[in-house]
Amino acid sequence: EIKFFFPRQDTLAMIKPDAVEEHKDEILEEIRRKGFSIKNYQETILSEEMAEEFYKEHKDKSFYSQLVQFICSGPCLQLVLSKENAVEDWRMVMGPTDPDKAKEIFPDSLRARFASDILHNAVHGSSSVEQADREIQLLFGDRSAEQVTSSEGENGG
Ligand code: TYD
Repeated sequence: EIKFFFPRQDTLAMIKPDAVEEHKDEILEEIRRKGFSIKNYQETILSEEMAEEFYKEHKDKSFYSQLVQFICSGPCLQLVLSKENAVEDWRMVMGPTDPDKAKEIFPDSLRARFASDILHNAVHGSSSVEQADREIQLLFGDRSAEQVTSSEGENGG
């Protein structure tokens, strides 16, 4: 028998402004069902400066300004998710960027279920471990070290 072991990872997930009102509960349910633990979370309206920094890898793309405007357009829920292989597994749970493609090849994914188009696509997930570290530091700073569910005995009083 061959067993594969994946390292425990953190990833940055966001429920984007188009989904936070209508679908937050269903998305949080899916997060729990798929075995992620929530290390930290916050619901904020991102500033334009923060959004530009967050999406800076896309600054030369045609959709960049629309993307920045959209992500700032209302509250979004940011979550630090943790589990084995979290970065890749969360992207599987989200499905492809374009919901038309998601509906075709992965109809159970969050984007197939909740996205309305390629821009308004309900959820974000870090694309790599390096991006996850950067995004978590950017959005949570030192608070990224806090644990919503802390393990027994760690703080000792
Ligand atoms: P990208 O990092 O390629 O996708 P993903 O979120 O799946 O990692 O793009 C970032 C976001 O930019 C994407 O979630 C939605 C938006 N976007 C568009 O609006 N149009 C596009 O053609 C692409 C590729 C992305």
